[in-house]
Amino acid sequence: MKGHVVFVGAGPGDPELITLRGWNALQAADVVLYDSLVDERLLQGLDAELVFVGKRCGRHSMRQERISELLVRHALRGKRVVRLKGGDPTVLGRTGEEALRLAASGIPFEIVPGVSSALAAPAFAGIPVTHRGLADSVCIVSAHRRDDEQEFSIPPYSPRTTVVLLMAGQTAQSWLGQLLVRGYPANLPLAFITAATTAKQQVLVTTVGDAARSVAKAEFGGSPTLVVIGHVVSLRDSLAWYGEDAPEAPVFLAAASERDNGATNRSAVSCVR
Ligand SMILES: C[S@@+](CC[C@H](N)C(=O)[O-])C[C@H]1O[C@@H](n2cnc3c(N)ncnc32)[C@H](O)[C@@H]1O
Repeated sequence: MKGHVVFVGAGPGDPELITLRGWNALQAADVVLYDSLVDERLLQGLDAELVFVGKRCGRHSMRQERISELLVRHALRGKRVVRLKGGDPTVLGRTGEEALRLAASGIPFEIVPGVSSALAAPAFAGIPVTHRGLADSVCIVSAHRRDDEQEFSIPPYSPRTTVVLLMAGQTAQSWLGQLLVRGYPANLPLAFITAATTAKQQVLVTTVGDAARSVAKAEFGGSPTLVVIGHVVSLRDSLAWYGEDAPEAPVFLAAASERDNGATNRSAVSCVR
């Protein structure tokens, strides 16, 4: 009997941000292949074989073809396989390649969307990615460029578009110069958001012109980092609700905060201007 594969988005960091459907798929799984951005508390207590296929401590991740092969192999053994990925599995997550491989082998699969960091991180930083009068479109872009690619995909400046750059922390010095070349004003606000939705969340607000200097002093501590660029970043001054800039810690998050090693959300966030 052939098994099947369920691609599940684990959400952006806080394990409570997985979907109910994703959670149910995990409980029913025989095998779970998971990435490094997945909070391992989601795996506790599962009656499943757990296979880590991500990158850890700078070591190379398992090759993409090998991951696809494993999915096929487990499914052909009749297993219910969950492929657990950070955020949403279809946002810069290589789900398409893995699903194409399954389709070619006639293996049934499902995709359970997740809460992408591209939207959750700005939300937890008090930055709505659209806002009437400020932005009516959002562009999610990879800041990672393969060696054989000449250009970053950063679009030319458009005042009503918010740009969210993923994989942006360690690559900042290479893409920052491109913003001015593409017409982004030097005084346009820009926010680096690190370890969003967790007790380690940090938000660094700066401008396109000052970003190179600010980021040289910043420490992201190896945590995942994305960047939001656009006028909506200025709303954080009034809308910060999570972390030390929040007027008070929301009651419904207090339990989650205690759960995260006793750290409080308020003390875990810093904002440098
Ligand atoms: C390979 S992409 C995968 C994105 C993922 N599929 C999603 O929807 O969030 C990894 C990048 O997502 C961003 N990211 C993921 N989790 C994050 C978090 N908790 N805080 C900030 N950025 C995060 C970082 O830019 C990181 O380098």
